[in-house]
Amino acid sequence: MQTGGPGWEVPLGRRDSLTASLSGSNNLIPAPNDSLPTIIGKFANQGLDIVDLVALSGGHTIGDSRCVSFRQRLYGQNNNGQVDRTLNPAYAAELRGRCPRSGGDQNLFALDLVTQFRFDNQYYHNILAMNGLLSSDEILLTQSRETMDLVHRYAADQGLFFDHFAKSMVKMGNISPLTGSAGEIRHNCRRVNHF
Ligand code: HEM
Repeated sequence: MQTGGPGWEVPLGRRDSLTASLSGSNNLIPAPNDSLPTIIGKFANQGLDIVDLVALSGGHTIGDSRCVSFRQRLYGQNNNGQVDRTLNPAYAAELRGRCPRSGGDQNLFALDLVTQFRFDNQYYHNILAMNGLLSSDEILLTQSRETMDLVHRYAADQGLFFDHFAKSMVKMGNISPLTGSAGEIRHNCRRVNHF
């Protein structure tokens, strides 16, 4: 992998849908400001447990988030000025520079402020330093003993994170596949439409 990180064997032959569902995405996929119990519940509904949640959240070691996905942490729910106390104040000040109260919704920010282009366990170190970007990242440390322990373990042991991440990716790939003649087995993963 160009970014580093673990490899794993991808089981082939999964049947994928020919369509996408906006309501499915809105209802089934966790939102960045969901509470921890809600996120745990949404994972559990797909057969994914707490280890899967904390390990897969480590996917945020690469990539970006738009301002609109974490603005609430900077200015409070309903813009009431109640800044998220679990966000490092220096980091919050930096974020506010390009993520104002209104406007700039699409401005992009690294999900991992230290090593955005490396797949590593820095994400967990960020969380320990209150530098997790999304609420859903930081609450892994602050809202449950079980998820907190895993954050500490992955920060201390990158090999363990890689091992769990790879296993959880295979589990995630096996979520309710289509069967029979429904959907298709992708021959070209990069195909974006069927026209
Ligand atoms: C715990 C539940 C999760 C929540 C609430 C969540 C939320 C988000 C949000 C809000 C963004 C930024 C989207 C935007 O602003 O446009 C994002 C980006 C991303 N997420 Fe997650 N995510 C979750 C789980 C995962 C999982 C399981 C993976 C994969 C293992 C993952 C991988 C990524 C990646 C790679 C990006 C960056 C995409 C890019 O740069 O274009 N996330 N996530």
